[in-house]
Amino acid sequence: MKLIDVLNGEVVWPPPVWLMRQAGRYLPEYREVRAQAGDFLSLSMNPELAAEVTLQPVRRFGFDAAILFSDILILPWALGQGLQYAQGEGPLLPPLTRAELGGLSLARAVEGTAPVMEAVRRARAGLDGDKGLIGFAGGPFTVACYMLDGKGGGGFPRTLRTVYEDRRLVEGLIDLLVEASVVYLQGQVDAGADCVMLFESWAGILPAELFRVFVIAPGRRIVSALRSKSPGLHIIGFPRLCGLMLREYVVETGVSAVGLDSVTDIAAAVAACPPGTVFQGNLDPLLLHIGGEALDRGVDAVLDGFRGQRHIFNLGHGITPDVDPRNVAQLVERIRAGRPSGL
Ligand code: CP3
Repeated sequence: MKLIDVLNGEVVWPPPVWLMRQAGRYLPEYREVRAQAGDFLSLSMNPELAAEVTLQPVRRFGFDAAILFSDILILPWALGQGLQYAQGEGPLLPPLTRAELGGLSLARAVEGTAPVMEAVRRARAGLDGDKGLIGFAGGPFTVACYMLDGKGGGGFPRTLRTVYEDRRLVEGLIDLLVEASVVYLQGQVDAGADCVMLFESWAGILPAELFRVFVIAPGRRIVSALRSKSPGLHIIGFPRLCGLMLREYVVETGVSAVGLDSVTDIAAAVAACPPGTVFQGNLDPLLLHIGGEALDRGVDAVLDGFRGQRHIFNLGHGITPDVDPRNVAQLVERIRAGRPSGL
């Protein structure tokens, strides 16, 4: 399995490839299944359909890995917070109050996420042995952002105020999310996930000192709790837009690999992180929308940038719904051609 070979520290050429949000609205076959399911939550909670959309992009493009079809907000929903996906608006949650925090229940989450575990089992059973299955959860801080603000898109002002004005509430919430994420991710591993990823997509909105407290420390607790139960488990961290905190995140959390956003200069990241660090990323998703020669040049630059490193090819953020699937096929072809450096 090329994905796990790289995570084990091998330099693999051409690198394995998968793309964040590879299952999604840019694929006609996804739109069909989503329409059949009715809405996003029903699709995520239907093991048969969730497994089907997990496998669709691997079938179509031959990616080296599938990522479980679900969402980082399924966990807060299973813990007891309201959640809806409004058409064209993204997720909406009733912003969490201190009184409501005590009402969230880990036991309820374990029961409520049983269909997710069944989707993992079905997806693993439907994949060839050389394809990896990636389980995931949101990073605790990113999930807390949505829980406290109730929606994305506005920079999470309530979360940032609460961090300063009622730090205890944020700490209590993060503690619960660390505990719940460990159980949730361990469940996915037990159900057949080959490795897991932590999407800390909004890590970059915190100043350094708070990044240590609310991103690095919870990340380290999740990694060490998972490894105490599954010693060889690979965990990919994605501390998006974390800038110069990258090295500290990698070293202090103990993640097996780090996802890089498109803003991060590849050479600078390689120079900053310890030798042997495994990287994932970091093509600009906009190039998938643009296609053509710009896409080829972008792919080549990422391949060349990580040449000689342990690298899993990916985007710097998720695929957008406006992408033409033919451009994704072009990207995979370009990587697999495995052209020698400098040509
Ligand atoms: O990558 C995959 O293919 C696996 C599935 C997956 C989804 N969301 C499906 C989804 C994963 C790994 C996620 C992670 C996720 N969800 C993140 C972290 C990564 C990132 O993008 O920063 C975040 C912040 C969320 C929260 C979320 N869910 C947002 C902001 C949105 C709205 C954006 C949009 O594209 O509409 C969602 C909805 C969502 N999650 C969709 C999908 C396929 C679209 C829902 C639909 O089909 O209408």
